[in-house]
Amino acid sequence: MEAPFSLPEVTPRDLPNWHGGALPGRDQQRLEAWVQEFGGLLFRGFDVGDAHAFDRFIGAFGLANFPYSESFSNALRFNRTERVFTANEAPPSVEIFLHHEMAQTLVFPKRLFFFGETTAERGGETPLCRSDLTLRALEAAHPTFVQALREKGVRYRSTLPSDPDPASGQGRSWRATLRVDTPNAAEATLQALGYRWRWAKDHALTLQTPPLPAVLAFDQGPEVFFNQLLAAHAGWRRTEDAHWPLLAFGDQTPLPTTCLDDALAIAEDNTLNHAWRTGDIVFLDNTRMMHGRRPFEGSRSVLAALCEPQRRSAFKPA
Ligand SMILES: [Fe+2]
Repeated sequence: MEAPFSLPEVTPRDLPNWHGGALPGRDQQRLEAWVQEFGGLLFRGFDVGDAHAFDRFIGAFGLANFPYSESFSNALRFNRTERVFTANEAPPSVEIFLHHEMAQTLVFPKRLFFFGETTAERGGETPLCRSDLTLRALEAAHPTFVQALREKGVRYRSTLPSDPDPASGQGRSWRATLRVDTPNAAEATLQALGYRWRWAKDHALTLQTPPLPAVLAFDQGPEVFFNQLLAAHAGWRRTEDAHWPLLAFGDQTPLPTTCLDDALAIAEDNTLNHAWRTGDIVFLDNTRMMHGRRPFEGSRSVLAALCEPQRRSAFKPA
């Protein structure tokens, strides 16, 4: 099935007045308008060959950096420059399902950049999914479910290892995620943020987020399916837990798995697969477009950078 949208391609010919350094103001405005309209742009042919050149390319946009070290991302990543890091260290056979970056946390990036440093031998596309189209189709199929998401928000449970676990798509340790050294400091941070927690075996830490919005609109744009439900439902570890469901509405009732299964299929219908060419740069509006990673063979390297951190408070029922 053909994707119901495309990713506009920007080449050096579209930016004749840019010769490195900061983008001219009019170009910045034009690109910003496009990314808002289409949810993402593909930059191709810009002679960006490594992490440092990618870092300089991002610098041209004048957007605030969102350092990985300050994020609550659960993926294990390694910095290559101050702004640029590896997208995810999960093994090639692991699919990373569609998600909005850090939509399961209280701080998320508004804009994302990805850079195709090395392409895979097989697979390794980046699926890109229009969240507004997905939400519209999901609401037509499951109006009660979508309304419940609007009214109650969602909570996510996850377990963070004590030490980094490179075999997992969510292998970042609680020490690194919370930027603390001791269990007491971890608890103080979580208390302040409104999380619930329990210590698990092997000094791992099981968390449940406060209720977070799952369906919302940004900047007068359309409503979007802004959450981490698909990636969590399809991809997160299902550790046994007698206390909290993996995914719950804000009132702690579990989310219906049939609706989540259907949401995955509906999202796939609204997805295009970006097949990387070396040097490609994809610029995304994280409030409009979901992304993921298809499994691959060979050595694939896609680097990432997060921009424009947005802070929000926990969901409060109307
Ligand atoms: Fe991601």
